[in-house]
Amino acid sequence: MGHTSLSTTVISPQLCRISIIAACSRNRVIGRDGRLPWDIPEDWGYFLDQTSSGTLLLGRRCYEEMRERHLKNPRVIVLSRDPNFYPAFGHRACSLNEGLSMAREFGKEIWICGGENVYTESLDIADRLLLTLIDEDIDGDTFFPYWHKHFPEESSCRPGCDENYHYAFHVFERGNLSLN
Ligand SMILES: NC(=O)c1ccc[n+]([C@@H]2O[C@H](COP(=O)([O-])OP(=O)(O)OC[C@H]3O[C@@H](n4cnc5c(N)ncnc54)[C@H](OP(=O)(O)O)[C@@H]3O)[C@@H](O)[C@H]2O)c1
Repeated sequence: MGHTSLSTTVISPQLCRISIIAACSRNRVIGRDGRLPWDIPEDWGYFLDQTSSGTLLLGRRCYEEMRERHLKNPRVIVLSRDPNFYPAFGHRACSLNEGLSMAREFGKEIWICGGENVYTESLDIADRLLLTLIDEDIDGDTFFPYWHKHFPEESSCRPGCDENYHYAFHVFERGNLSLN
């Protein structure tokens, strides 16, 4: 896989920052029936703004959903253990480690975009967490993992709302706590 030529800012693969980006409800729901349980345009715009110049790394189900929402980023790595799965956009990796190696080749910030298992596996290795917290308990079947021990330091928080929800855009930095 070669480097993309879309941007001039390519950094050393070893230095690529790894950021998790997610939105979850008070009860940590991220999804229901394979889709987002909410429609918050400001959050979708935030996701696109943050991630558009980086490399996306996401699970196969998440990719299926995002594809419908016009996944336009040319740097997409989809995790799947199915050797017969060929994503129409981007590349398949069969493990998080393989996905990270492929993503580093692009020399861009790596964005971990879900779903549940991908987030859980990434907590140990990500540098920071961008989490939109929706101030509501919402029904769902897919959850964001407990993150507080890994990301105890909040570096910024910006509130937002629409006619349906109050929410806030949090950025958390990795802590140096020893994890048991
Ligand atoms: N609120 C948010 O910020 C947010 C973000 C992302 C997703 N979501 C929601 O979450 C739901 C989708 O998440 P999900 O957890 O159900 O599914 P997912 O993580 O998107 O996809 C699961 C699939 O990804 C592959 N996979 C996961 N971990 C892997 C690994 N370590 N190595 C290789 N392959 C791996 C497997 O694919 P194969 O079965 O092909 O092997 C697995 O079945 C949807 O409802 C979506 O809307 C919400």
